[in-house]
Amino acid sequence: MKERVVINDVGPRDGLQNQPRVLTPEQRLQLIRALLDAGVAHIEVGSFVSPKAVPAMAGTDQVVAGLPAGGATYSALVPNRKGYQLAKDAGVSIIELVVASTDTMNLKNINTSTEQAMANVAEIAELARADGVRAMCYIATAWECPFEGLVPLDTSMALMRQMFDAGIEEVVIADTIGAADPAGVQRLTQEAAAEFGAANLSCHFHDTRGMGVANVSAALQSGIRKFDGSIGGLGGCPFAPGATGNVATEDVVLMLDQMGFETGIDLEGLVAAVELAIELTNNCEGGNSIRWLRRQIEKGTLKKTA
Ligand code: COA
Ligand code: ZN
Repeated sequence: MKERVVINDVGPRDGLQNQPRVLTPEQRLQLIRALLDAGVAHIEVGSFVSPKAVPAMAGTDQVVAGLPAGGATYSALVPNRKGYQLAKDAGVSIIELVVASTDTMNLKNINTSTEQAMANVAEIAELARADGVRAMCYIATAWECPFEGLVPLDTSMALMRQMFDAGIEEVVIADTIGAADPAGVQRLTQEAAAEFGAANLSCHFHDTRGMGVANVSAALQSGIRKFDGSIGGLGGCPFAPGATGNVATEDVVLMLDQMGFETGIDLEGLVAAVELAIELTNNCEGGNSIRWLRRQIEKGTLKKTA
């Protein structure tokens, strides 16, 4: 039996939040349906943030209202209590909170100190528990901050500990600017897996320096079995200078397939979703493997793995 790895596509949120072309809720749903058609079972569908701060995520409530029922797990990012209320009212059942590893990044991203951000997390996690909403939390810039530089391992570990103590069920360790390398990833994920359990962790990488899949591979060695990817490599944080696209979902799925893991995702369907992402945003070329994948599809030699 092949070992399963869960892929969460964050294209409809991380991928679209910084696009010059703002998509309509219906176009965002079109992208989500293409991901579902490919067998992607976890999707981050949007965020409930200030539309002044992130205009591209306005109308996430309409996206949520239009989601096909059944079969997939949908989540949405929530920066504060107001966002939580909006997400809950929209019917979101999994929220993702976010705390960065440094004060400067938290101030730029969500206008709070790290301490206040963590207090908000604890408060919202408690509300979520009472409401039957599952609360996850991102630790953003877990390896390096664009403003404060390298982040000591102990700083990220301490923040994750506070997240779990606050009742967060799953922590996503995020390399928001794509500055981490496989050695650093292995150090932090190994330590985090030993203390918190690999099953309660997932990883989120950006491909800024081309190390996205290498970093996935490093985290796999620590036992992590859940990863964010973004269709076509779309992405970038508007508040983190230098952050480019996320590691492309197609690159991660292809690598996992070849390594003998099971993702439940069909690569041909994924390529169709990439083509749609390119058409909709006009600002994405697809992941590093896209040309090879297209050639295999043309030749009819892409193995059906899903
Ligand atoms: N959704 C929608 N509107 C929100 C909101 C939310 N979650 N939180 C606050 N607002 C509105 C307030 O109602 C207020 O509106 P008004 O100006 O019409 O009165 C305005 O935003 C300012 O509210 P305030 O609480 O002072 O927020 P702020 O200016 O300190 O900004 C955030 C804080 C979190 C709302 C803002 O920084 C944000 O949305 N950041 C997004 C971060 C993000 O998406 N990063 C990328 C992913 S990690
Ligand atoms: Zn990201």
